[in-house]
Amino acid sequence: MLNVNEYIAQAAKDVEMAMDKLVPMRQTSPEAALYYAMRYSLFAGGKRLRPALFFATLELFGMKREAGLPFAAALEMIHTYSLIHDDLPAMDDDDLRRGQPTCHKVYGEGMAVLAGDALLTHAFALMTMPLEGIPAERQMAATHEVALQAGLSGMVAGQAAEMEAQGKEKDRALLDYINEGKTSALFAAAILSAAHLAGATEEEKEALRLYAYRLGLCFQIADDILDVEGDAAVLGKPVGSDEKNDKATYASLFPLAEAKQYALDYAAAAQEALAVFDERADLLRALPTLFVERSK
Ligand code: IPE
Ligand code: IPE
Ligand code: MG
Ligand code: MG
Ligand code: MG
Repeated sequence: MLNVNEYIAQAAKDVEMAMDKLVPMRQTSPEAALYYAMRYSLFAGGKRLRPALFFATLELFGMKREAGLPFAAALEMIHTYSLIHDDLPAMDDDDLRRGQPTCHKVYGEGMAVLAGDALLTHAFALMTMPLEGIPAERQMAATHEVALQAGLSGMVAGQAAEMEAQGKEKDRALLDYINEGKTSALFAAAILSAAHLAGATEEEKEALRLYAYRLGLCFQIADDILDVEGDAAVLGKPVGSDEKNDKATYASLFPLAEAKQYALDYAAAAQEALAVFDERADLLRALPTLFVERSK
């Protein structure tokens, strides 16, 4: 029997071991504080869902996860950088992340900016190291995909669109645009980079792209609902952050029950996108509902 929670827990262990090797401590360097700040946020916990999505996609195509460990580490580093910057006073101004004081609370705002910068750039150093047994063109396509999804065609764009929309009238279409950028795009980076490395067909990549985008939408709606009715001790981050910042979310635009129904609709749509795959995609099929029903 496939146990999805065990799969995610094992993915977390594997990526944490890889990150420990790939981002080693430099205690005696003049920039030691940078390493402390990066590793503080990297190893604070976190569900490690993007590495899990990456491994699940590699394995869907019969590849071993060991082949892609630097990519899994890089994806989690990019995600962690996005959280460090997202928590800064200039953005969401939050004090708690992954159950600990946020990076800027411990290391100061300047070092938190730099820790994020370093995680982002080092991620690209890792993704461009030669990978054994994988053709360079595939690795190039995978890295290019991550760059687009993490930046101007994805996460950074979504964060900027959200910032621009603050305090203005918003409709569901704009919310989805923002959520696809800030959240779906890094899911797509994880899933599609694995698909590129594995040499997936165009049809398979298109199905996975749709899946990733819908998965991100249902995940972010659940995040917004948890920001209203979740438990900060379980979540490891504050509740009420969105209301404090006057963010329009599914949870503020709709009654919670309706918002949850939208999340379930996107979860079902995500599963539908996997129709082209056989039972090897069952792990991916199980994730959308899990993402909506989660408590952290
Ligand atoms: C939080 O992501 C940011 C969002 C996109 C909502 P996660 O909920 O995956 O955060 P961690 O990695 O488990 O801390
Ligand atoms: C942020 O969304 C997503 C990114 C960091 C790109 P949120 O601001 O809702 O994430 P949380 O709730 O702080 O984790
Ligand atoms: Mg935010
Ligand atoms: Mg936030
Ligand atoms: Mg949130």
